Amino acid sequence: MRIAVANNKGGAGKTTAIAHLAEALAARGRRVLAVDLDPQANLSRRLGYGEAELADMVTAAEVVAANQKGCAVDAVVGCRWSGPSVDDLATRIDLVPARYDLEARVAEAGQLGSHERLDLGLSGVAEDYDVVLLDCPPSLGHLTQLGLAAADTAVLVLRPEYDHLQGAIRVRDFIATYRRHLGRPDLAVSGVIINEHDRRRGLHAWHTDSVTEAFGDLVWSPPIPSRAVLAEAIDAAQPLRARGAPARPLIEIFSTLADQLEVRTDAVA
Ligand SMILES: Nc1ncnc2c1ncn2[C@@H]1O[C@H](COP(=O)(O)OP(=O)(O)OP(=O)(O)O)[C@@H](O)[C@H]1O
Ligand SMILES: [Mg+2]
Repeated sequence: MRIAVANNKGGAGKTTAIAHLAEALAARGRRVLAVDLDPQANLSRRLGYGEAELADMVTAAEVVAANQKGCAVDAVVGCRWSGPSVDDLATRIDLVPARYDLEARVAEAGQLGSHERLDLGLSGVAEDYDVVLLDCPPSLGHLTQLGLAAADTAVLVLRPEYDHLQGAIRVRDFIATYRRHLGRPDLAVSGVIINEHDRRRGLHAWHTDSVTEAFGDLVWSPPIPSRAVLAEAIDAAQPLRARGAPARPLIEIFSTLADQLEVRTDAVA
């Protein structure tokens, strides 16, 4: 199952959701491929590949440029999380990294069929995994279109705030309008994850209702709360399991979200 994670709003928690859903899925024995489609390369760093290493690696940019069936295999590397409760889990997570120059592939957007290039590159590679998570940049441009054209379904991540909800609605409507052009006539949103939910903010409670109004039962629960330990894991490029007791409630939350991912996207047959 290939899942594009998107929102036409930055800083929603797309990359966070991917990194820690991958952790939760790997912890239950699933094989996960994370594909970084964002020139910011945040997902690549969080799975262990910083800017210096990325300079010499085969990345999503080369996969898209090559435009050859199965060529993503040349870009696949292992997750580099390590530690006592993590080593085994990390062997089940692979990554197609990104680098800042992925941006240059946008120049091909005008070429006929160029949006199919990632789909082609992943063909025969994605099948080795239970779940493929595609991390889209916060735009509706060519890089996100490459992700959507390579996806079976889409999951949206948002904070319960006005601009985030509007960004998510734009992605949903974009998919509905252009899925045929993207060669994915059945593509649809199968989940909405609410991130950075802060119960103390009345605004968040109010907008959580607006999210449910807009997306109905597509909204997964529970929301991911705003927590320092999660921000610390993100900053240190570590899994939650490396952060000790304070991370335990979040490990539970991502595990519940992973349950929903599996059921709602038919990720595991
Ligand atoms: N639940 C959370 N609790 C605390 N901090 C969070 C949480 N989720 C995200 N953050 C913070 O918000 C930042 C942005 O999150 P993230 O990078 O996942 O968003 P994104 O949607 O991928 O952003 P972009 O649109 O730039 O790709 C993180 O670096 C982290 O500091
Ligand atoms: Mg991101």
